[in-house]
Amino acid sequence: MSRAIPQYASFRSIGAYAPEKILSNFDLEKMIDTSDEWIVKRTGIKERRIAALDESTSDMATKAAKIAIDRANLSTDDIDLIVCATVTPDYFNMPATSCIISEKLGIRDVQAFDISAACSGFVYALSVAKAFIESGMKQNVLVIGAEKFSSIVDYNDRGTCILFGDGAGAAVISATDKEDEGFVDIHASADGSYADFLITPSPGSVNPMSQKALDEGLNFVQMKGNETFKLAVKTLTKDVKEILAKNEINSEDIPHFIPHQANYRIIKAVGDALKMREDQVVVTVDKYGNTSAASIPMAINDLYESGNLKYGELMLLDTFGGGLTWASALLPFSGK
Ligand code: UT7
Repeated sequence: MSRAIPQYASFRSIGAYAPEKILSNFDLEKMIDTSDEWIVKRTGIKERRIAALDESTSDMATKAAKIAIDRANLSTDDIDLIVCATVTPDYFNMPATSCIISEKLGIRDVQAFDISAACSGFVYALSVAKAFIESGMKQNVLVIGAEKFSSIVDYNDRGTCILFGDGAGAAVISATDKEDEGFVDIHASADGSYADFLITPSPGSVNPMSQKALDEGLNFVQMKGNETFKLAVKTLTKDVKEILAKNEINSEDIPHFIPHQANYRIIKAVGDALKMREDQVVVTVDKYGNTSAASIPMAINDLYESGNLKYGELMLLDTFGGGLTWASALLPFSGK
């Protein structure tokens, strides 16, 4: 279908949900051989949120989505596509978590599917929303990043359990004919040769659910932390340099740099390499830990709720995660 007036994808609103329960470093000291001092020094994390046992990924996502739809001044009937980025879905095979979210939101006839790109999932989902809107196929896309990482973390593994937390963030991406409200650029990529850097080996077609898999703990996330750390710094920096150069934008002109919240040392190293001032860089890793696909929308929501994200201001998103996947995006905030 060719359109007389081109339509652009605009970032209309943001919402987020963080579960009530806080798991602090001091709580972890009682569970494993670690210390608040070590965790803060090596990661910048002080606490993370943990979903209730009966609280699912779709429950958290639905709460974030309701806020985002409300702030976009839309009703659920206006949403014509739901894309949920998650690697901790309600069910590992089917149905998709986005279908369950559609039901919880009371939307009956809507295209809905999930994206699996680990921590890069939200930015990957934004690229999908952009393509659907610019092609004229959809008008209002609900993009969600939601994770219940506590459901795949081994709380005996001090290399991973100190890092991850639960939560959800959601955004409404709408069609606009105003070019200056539209996404400037998105770049998303992957390299499967590093698939074993971050992996949950079971359940799946390689290791279907079995007692043996459970006994070996294959249902838990496994991470090559140090190797992932080094690649993250290198890739995140390179990705941002490329997107800025391509769009002829200087890093000092970006009001809001919102990197994936995996480790403060990664954020600091990337920020320094890009010569970002502290006031440009959004940091929430201290209070939420790494919430994977939810990390960037939760950080945008914190910025918005602090009153520091205004209509027209440019956001630079940058993320890296299992796959390995990475992505960056340049887009103005077009909400009120
Ligand atoms: O979101 C997706 C991307 N994920 C990431 O980007 C995660 C990247 N990785 C990291 O954030 C870091 O690698 C970790 C925080 C996971 C680990 O920090 P590190 O500085 O790379 O530590 P390390 O693995 O090199 O371990 C250093 C030492 C080891 O002891 P020895 O061998 O030197 O005696 C570990 O056993 O620290 C020890 N250690 C700990 N000590 C206290 C590892 N974890 C802990 C812990 N508490 N929780």
